[in-house]
Amino acid sequence: MLAELSPALTAEVQRAAKLLASKQRICLLTGAGISAESGIPTFRDKQTGLWENYAAEDLATPDAFARDPKLVWSWYQWRRQLVADKTPNPAHDALAQWQYHTQSSDQQLTLITQNVDDLHEQAGSTVIHLHGNLWQNRCSQCNTTYENRSNRLANSKNDLIFDEDLITCQHCGGYIRPNIVWFGESLPVQAWQTAEDAASNCEVFISIGTSSLVYPAAGLAQLAKQNGAKIIEINPDPTPNTIVDITLAEKAGVIMPLLIQQITTL
Ligand code: APR
Repeated sequence: MLAELSPALTAEVQRAAKLLASKQRICLLTGAGISAESGIPTFRDKQTGLWENYAAEDLATPDAFARDPKLVWSWYQWRRQLVADKTPNPAHDALAQWQYHTQSSDQQLTLITQNVDDLHEQAGSTVIHLHGNLWQNRCSQCNTTYENRSNRLANSKNDLIFDEDLITCQHCGGYIRPNIVWFGESLPVQAWQTAEDAASNCEVFISIGTSSLVYPAAGLAQLAKQNGAKIIEINPDPTPNTIVDITLAEKAGVIMPLLIQQITTL
């Protein structure tokens, strides 16, 4: 299995596996790169189709929604349609397998994601979402969450409605918006607190498929490092993060199954 990798990368995977097998508290942060092999474009991939002339950063903001709610709502309906048939790839599956394996060991894994897709959940993982969830909605005025059909919002992806008509809140008449953290908005308090605690107390922090550009999530690795953790980065295009101790410059879907197989058999 490791034969797929260069001798140098094989040695780094074995070094990472040895470190991870010897430690109890592991914190993992995933980004859009872990879903890339499932066919979901990463956040900084160029947008396509009708949306190719828009940058995600210009649409995922409260101002954009206030200015043109229908445009932003349509974009998210398009993203939902793009993601609806996507399934976990070997990286998601390997992480879920590792989490399952730790149930009978003294290792504690905390999996945190910046992603708004639910591929970690589909693979069977327990995961903390820092930036919200593409399949959830809430009122932009009174924050009531909307997950049921009566508001023409599907209660599951199977009967999802992708129409672009704006939906108004039953309680206050405000427009319904995706339950996603937009640029300039604060992260969910409980999720961030859990992530900070896990990063501060872990012995190894693994960053998988993220450009580490967007704070505060990008600061978790630094927080872990300050508290004595070793840092592992899995990314075919390594970031200029100087705090990384072990760089696995390969796709997550290739590395994760090999790494987990090594860890769980050491
Ligand atoms: N395996 C691992 N990493 C990959 C793969 C892969 N198969 N394919 C791409 N990558 C890497 C890219 O090299 C890049 O560094 O994934 C990273 C994706 O970076 P971004 O597109 O910036 O996504 P992300 O880091 O998740 O963005 C963070 O920024 O825009 C906000 O809220 C948004 O959650 C998002 C946050």
